[in-house]
Amino acid sequence: MRRPLIAGNWKMNGTKADAEELIRSIIAGVFEMRKVDVAVCPPFPYLFIAEQMLAGTAIGWGSQDVSREEGGAFTGQVSAAMLKDFGCRYAIVGHSERRQFNGETDAIIGRKYAQAMASGVVPILCVGETLEEREQGKTEEVVASHIDGVLNLAGVEAYGHGVVAYEPVWAIGTGVTATPDQAQEVHAFLRERIANKNKEIAEGLRILYGGSMKPGNAAELIGQPDIDGGLIGGASLKAADFVAICQAGEDNA
Ligand code: 13P
Repeated sequence: MRRPLIAGNWKMNGTKADAEELIRSIIAGVFEMRKVDVAVCPPFPYLFIAEQMLAGTAIGWGSQDVSREEGGAFTGQVSAAMLKDFGCRYAIVGHSERRQFNGETDAIIGRKYAQAMASGVVPILCVGETLEEREQGKTEEVVASHIDGVLNLAGVEAYGHGVVAYEPVWAIGTGVTATPDQAQEVHAFLRERIANKNKEIAEGLRILYGGSMKPGNAAELIGQPDIDGGLIGGASLKAADFVAICQAGEDNA
């Protein structure tokens, strides 16, 4: 049985005071949950707040990106080893906003995944199609290429050390959620693609759903056989909503 994971991707939002307040409320809200893994991914400058407030709790923290390089003269970048130093358990890699606005390719993202893994940080690889790609019937082709970026670089064993998040681009921040059936179909396809290389690794891999997940739809999504939790954007900035989604994970465990 895979343990559900609910992770909040705060994106580029909030202030230091907001981060403290949000983390304080989340700690109080998920305190008694035992069966779900919970994590927050604040912007880089606020990771130290997460480290200070969350150390000693069961809540993990992670980054929203990581450098593909190990270290050295790469102005503005943050290495996986630095994240590890800050106690990060997770690093999101390949988010569609980074693919879209920062020109990240599957090859670049594969290297980021490998860097995180090498430092003992769990990469959360985001995959997902645009609306246009879905309408052209290319969903499977697109998500397969996102999955294969890591397979080609690091082999199927890499999926024994990471998490995948299916985030249809058309559902991110739009209020339009994939239906549980639509999401389950893609999740099953992703798991099958990895199972073709290694069944055991595929069975153990957590595949999260992301894209307008809210308290009102979380339980039904997480209730699907191949949906193992959520990567939450907008709703992760509201403590009550995020805690309610964590509760859906707890109840489905
Ligand atoms: P929303 O939950 O705001 O749609 O964002 C999802 C997301 O991009 C999480 O990484």
